[in-house]
Amino acid sequence: MDYLLINGGPRLRGTIEVNGAKNAALPIMAASILCESETVLHGVPDLADVRHLSLLLSKLGVNVRRDDRGDLHLQVEDEMNSHAEYELVRKMRASICVMGPLLAKRKSARIAMPGGCAIGDRPINLHVEGMQSLGAEVDLVGGDMHLRAKRLTGTEMFLGGPFGSTVLGTANVTMAACLAEGSTAIESAACEPEIVDLAEFLNKCGARIQGHGTPRITIDGVSRLSGCEHTVIPDRIEASTFIIAAAITNGEVRLRNCRLEHMLAVVDRLRQIGVNIEKENDEVVVSSARRLDPVDVTTQPFPGFPTDLQAQITALLCLADGNSTVTEKIFPDRFLHVAELNRMGARLRKEGPTVIVEGVKRLIGAPVMASDLRASAALVLAGLIAKGQTRVNRVYHIDRGYEAIERKLALLGADIQRLSE
Ligand code: EPZ
Repeated sequence: MDYLLINGGPRLRGTIEVNGAKNAALPIMAASILCESETVLHGVPDLADVRHLSLLLSKLGVNVRRDDRGDLHLQVEDEMNSHAEYELVRKMRASICVMGPLLAKRKSARIAMPGGCAIGDRPINLHVEGMQSLGAEVDLVGGDMHLRAKRLTGTEMFLGGPFGSTVLGTANVTMAACLAEGSTAIESAACEPEIVDLAEFLNKCGARIQGHGTPRITIDGVSRLSGCEHTVIPDRIEASTFIIAAAITNGEVRLRNCRLEHMLAVVDRLRQIGVNIEKENDEVVVSSARRLDPVDVTTQPFPGFPTDLQAQITALLCLADGNSTVTEKIFPDRFLHVAELNRMGARLRKEGPTVIVEGVKRLIGAPVMASDLRASAALVLAGLIAKGQTRVNRVYHIDRGYEAIERKLALLGADIQRLSE
């Protein structure tokens, strides 16, 4: 099994290119099930999650091929199978986003209920309720959700949950409603840039979606969708992770293919901490003051501070000059990085959904265990500045959302390597 070995200290310098967004690419790839001709996607990163969804789609009769330029070609060839099996779904929760497209295009979908998740309780009730509102019949048989509908019918629905909007729930219902009879209105829809990108992709395929990017999305059903050519948006979470890598090492880094308008809440907090983030032509330039200020951070649905960056900013605040608080309002149990950072000499204390971060002068290298995608990114960031050597185990977690992170960091001067046991 692979692990990362990091010798902390070097200040990061140089330029990197931000990849296309995993969380935009996955639902857009699933939407190819709706399309009657080929879809070509540019900028889809080569990640474990993308390869995993490609495998699921091929089982569902979609031919998925990456050409020499790295573009993804998706073409439905067989619509017989509508069963997303447990063995595939349990490995990646985002598999759930084939539910809406299968139900709308093939009139039935059999989706294994996703099991437990390292970041906490993740029910799919809103997805199912959304499909029932569109007229689907739903049964739970042997751990699988069976959804059927001769024809979905547009309606008005409220899709908000106890923690606010649902991103993939909004994606699933939006995709299903594209082929429904009549109009659908989704209230309390997710406003994430990845939802906007999905809607823009679908509109290029002939859908009629409006209001994407606002809490009220309306969809006028159409009878068919074609494929199209589309470039997925840059990955705001990857970009933000590299901005924090520059800040935590007191380095100076330039990012290409980075859209600051998708990261305003993040930029706001980082500037408060003392990180300089400026746009220069088509690049984003990052540098930081040596002294980092403590701040309070609360995660929220977009445009608020993203939960997918909570662990990474916690790592940065470990070195702030004073006490910070980090409150997780989306996945209240998303704190598996806390104990690992404390192994590196951090002073983190969890109280309910909040972590009190007592700033320390330095972190110390140690062997640590990755538990989920973003927690593992936080451990790598801590390792970049820790005194001595850090060994991050189970890096398969990080490969799910960062393409060859050690290569990009090494390009910026980090002393990092991937090794195998
Ligand atoms: C998406 O997951 C992202 N995944 C997650 O990123 C991200 O953390 C999350 O949105 C929040 O921003 C992808 O896009 C592939 P939600 P999703 O439904 O859609 C509750 C990463 O690191 N909820 O918006 O599954 C839920 O429990 C991943 O890249 C219900 O109660 O998240 C949570 O508390 C991790 N019932 C809240 O809503 C439902 O039916 C938000 O979850 C659905 C969700």
